[in-house]
Amino acid sequence: MTELPRLVVLISGRGSNLRALAEAIGQGRLRAAIAAVVSNRADAAGLRFAAEQGIPTRVVSHAGLARAAHSDALREAILPFDPHLVCLAGFMRLLAPSFTQAFPNRIVNIHPSLLPAFPGLDAQRQAFDYGVKISGCTVHLVDDELDHGPIVMQSVVPVLDDDTPETLAARILSAEHKTYPAAVERLLREPWAIAGRRVLFQSSQSA
Ligand code: GAR
Repeated sequence: MTELPRLVVLISGRGSNLRALAEAIGQGRLRAAIAAVVSNRADAAGLRFAAEQGIPTRVVSHAGLARAAHSDALREAILPFDPHLVCLAGFMRLLAPSFTQAFPNRIVNIHPSLLPAFPGLDAQRQAFDYGVKISGCTVHLVDDELDHGPIVMQSVVPVLDDDTPETLAARILSAEHKTYPAAVERLLREPWAIAGRRVLFQSSQSA
């Protein structure tokens, strides 16, 4: 049997996207293995889920460390797992160039808006307050700017008149849970290339 591609998943909290990746693996929608879960917070609920699943966990606290030193510590924690992809799943710290350069075009992130709209914190509330009629989520490759790298996949979510920031966030989260595993599966299984800012999948090219 061929070995499955290895994912290392970085979290900071709840870990529902981690759970969605694990469920997709369990259901055969994502043909990969989670080699490790790494958190910058020891109290991240996602760490408990990972431990229950028998997935190795690591905590690399950012407390008292400058960004570069934290990123170096993260990189050293992750390298032994030799990941094909590093998946940020609600990981709320910025990564230094030394980290992104260690895994070139092999770091992905999920963000709860249609980038480039509403990067940064509390994206769902930003979209709600702006009054957009559609929002959604974006899976993108990670570069050195916040919520910025080339886009892999997006899903659209309508904003309803009776939404609150919370109901909108919940609807976007459901979309995230479908979109992230699908995007990771595609990156792992289909040939792709980057042209400028565009991620082009070979199977989507016209003949
Ligand atoms: C998710 O909504 C994710 O898109 C967002 O944090 C939440 C984590 O939830 N990430 C960002 O805003 C990154 N800029 P989870 O811990 O339940 O997966």
